[in-house]
Amino acid sequence: MNPAMHSPGESLLINPAGVRVLVVDDEEFLRFIVREWLEQAGYSVDEACDGNDALRKLEIRGVRYDLLLTDIRMPGMDGITLLGEWAKRCPSTAGVVMSANTELDTAVSALKMGACDYITKPFNGDVLLITLENALRKKDLERQVEDYRLNLEKKVKEQTDVINLMYVRSIDAMVKALEAKDHYTRGHAQRVTIYSVATAREMGVPESDVEDLRRAAVLHDLGKIGVRESVLNKPGKLDKEEFEEVVRHPEISVSILEPIPFFHPLLPAILHHHEQFNGRGYPGGLAGEEIPLASRIMAVADTFDAMTSTRAYRTALPMDVAAEEIRRCSGTQFDPDIAHYFLSCQPRIRIPGDIFLPDAADRETPKYFRS
Ligand SMILES: [Fe+2]
Repeated sequence: MNPAMHSPGESLLINPAGVRVLVVDDEEFLRFIVREWLEQAGYSVDEACDGNDALRKLEIRGVRYDLLLTDIRMPGMDGITLLGEWAKRCPSTAGVVMSANTELDTAVSALKMGACDYITKPFNGDVLLITLENALRKKDLERQVEDYRLNLEKKVKEQTDVINLMYVRSIDAMVKALEAKDHYTRGHAQRVTIYSVATAREMGVPESDVEDLRRAAVLHDLGKIGVRESVLNKPGKLDKEEFEEVVRHPEISVSILEPIPFFHPLLPAILHHHEQFNGRGYPGGLAGEEIPLASRIMAVADTFDAMTSTRAYRTALPMDVAAEEIRRCSGTQFDPDIAHYFLSCQPRIRIPGDIFLPDAADRETPKYFRS
């Protein structure tokens, strides 16, 4: 807020001390009279003889003016053009135009261009002071409204962040509930996230997309919460009905997350993480680049982690055997470029100590896989 103004709730009277006014008019006598009146009232006053002179004062001297009082008709740059140019440089300055009776239309267009008020020549000192006070008060109220709007936006954003954090925490709890239900997948979501992020970085994917990928990977199997425990942990081969239940999990994930706008950007990646590059996956049977990039990355990471983890129906494959399987299926099940990038960074991937190692790594040389 301008220091010369009173705080909201106090008297609206303007205190002219410290308020800087630039008077722009080609008539030297008028500038002199106006200056006298304003300085007697306590304002600080500068003068300019036309629009160009006014802009020079602003740019060369770098003085911050609270009020611009300008004539309309002047040689060189006129008052209307000056108002437009000034607003681009100093939108917080209150503008007031001085016009002759015959220029009322022009005064109205000045108001449309953002001037706070106009005063008709000839005028006396009292009318001038009231007009300037009104203009300053109006500008100050505009500033208060703008501050309030910005503050409100900030508060809304803070509240939205809190709500989104609550969503993330509840979903995190659901992921943990899923891992408790299907104990063969403990640490799976976090490892798929680590593999996916490492692959994306190896590919040079922009960091903002990597962040979305990270969030999608954590949630990719959330829908398994809707699959019966007896099916998830079945030691033998799934029958047709059980298989159909399992393949619905990407769609269940989406139906859980869809009501929350915060998760919308992640839904395509989650929905299509079981698509195959050759079009033989589910649920859409998409092929090649029809499959979202994040889904193609997660498909490799997900399969590698599944192969290197013990499941109800088989023990974990050794890491090098699983890597060879990714290579073998490159170009059919997997995007060959992504398989290549995954295989090139996989030996360097380390799992933080708070995340379960895949069973294969547990059996091999666990230290080698820890960060
Ligand atoms: Fe899945």
